[in-house]
Amino acid sequence: MIIEENLLHKSDILMSFEKWLSVLREDCCLYICIFLTVDFYRIDRSEKSMSDWTKELFVKHPELFVGALEERVAQASREVDALIRMLREQKFKTENILDLGCGIGRHSIELGKRGTRVLGTDLSPHFIAIAKKRAEKEKVDDIVCFKAADMREIGSAVSDRKPFDGIISLFTSFGFYDDETNDDVLRQCCQLVQPKGFFALEIANRDWIIENFQERGFSRHKNVVVLQDRSFDLNTSRMNNIWSYLMQQDDKTFTLEKQITLNHRLWSLHELVEMFERTGWQFQAAYSGLAQQQRDISLMEARRFLFIGKKR
Ligand SMILES: C[S@@+](CC[C@H](N)C(=O)[O-])C[C@H]1O[C@@H](n2cnc3c(N)ncnc32)[C@H](O)[C@@H]1O
Repeated sequence: MIIEENLLHKSDILMSFEKWLSVLREDCCLYICIFLTVDFYRIDRSEKSMSDWTKELFVKHPELFVGALEERVAQASREVDALIRMLREQKFKTENILDLGCGIGRHSIELGKRGTRVLGTDLSPHFIAIAKKRAEKEKVDDIVCFKAADMREIGSAVSDRKPFDGIISLFTSFGFYDDETNDDVLRQCCQLVQPKGFFALEIANRDWIIENFQERGFSRHKNVVVLQDRSFDLNTSRMNNIWSYLMQQDDKTFTLEKQITLNHRLWSLHELVEMFERTGWQFQAAYSGLAQQQRDISLMEARRFLFIGKKR
């Protein structure tokens, strides 16, 4: 896709959608009509919009992403079993945990069901409201609490809490900001845990992404189709994704609802080790993700990591 200054040209968008339509036609046998309005051709590529994409997606338009979380609720129980097994294997206590970027509370609630006291925090008040309702419904609201808070200010947001046994950040909830800010979040987190407490980060393996890079992908959640145009900057190790959200109106009609440009950092394992070491942690262990099919894969081939740092 060619971008001139801050304007994404109509012809480029149409070219991109033609590619997409052929993919979707082949894969889904769908015939799609897309109604574009001039507003959709504009993508603000300024620094500000890059750094604010988390607010744009998770705070202003959480309805676009919530389906991706809801459809993964069922797998959270298995993921939490795996997480607890790994943390116990590393001799960590799991009685009192902060779930950083908890979304709709998938993992917080499963931890609560297993007797762990959890505080889930997230940038999105909408996700937090859903998480609170889910905790009530699942009858864990006595030990699982939620609070809307930006991880960039997590130190002051939870300063009234006693230190946690550890912090979890699961399903790519970290790396959305520049390196300095990401480091600062980890430093703040280090102040929030007990001596020898843990930080468990579940995140994509950069090396796997490079090896298996695909410029395009799409996903579907109920009546929302997301077209994903991806590029990777080798210099900065950052993914730049343009997500185009299409709403299905009827059998044959989809409308382009919104385009959001996401930008986030990816790390190889040795870079994760370095980042944790410079922010107050030490490397404790790395596993090949939490998903069942990942567990017996070597770290070399792992698609995702469950990285565990221990407070120094
Ligand atoms: C991919 S979702 C994962 C959610 C959850 N961990 C799960 O597995 O269901 C990423 C989450 O990070 C949250 N997030 C993004 N930026 C944040 C920030 N600055 N502070 C706190 N949460 C943030 C989003 O609102 C979103 O819920």
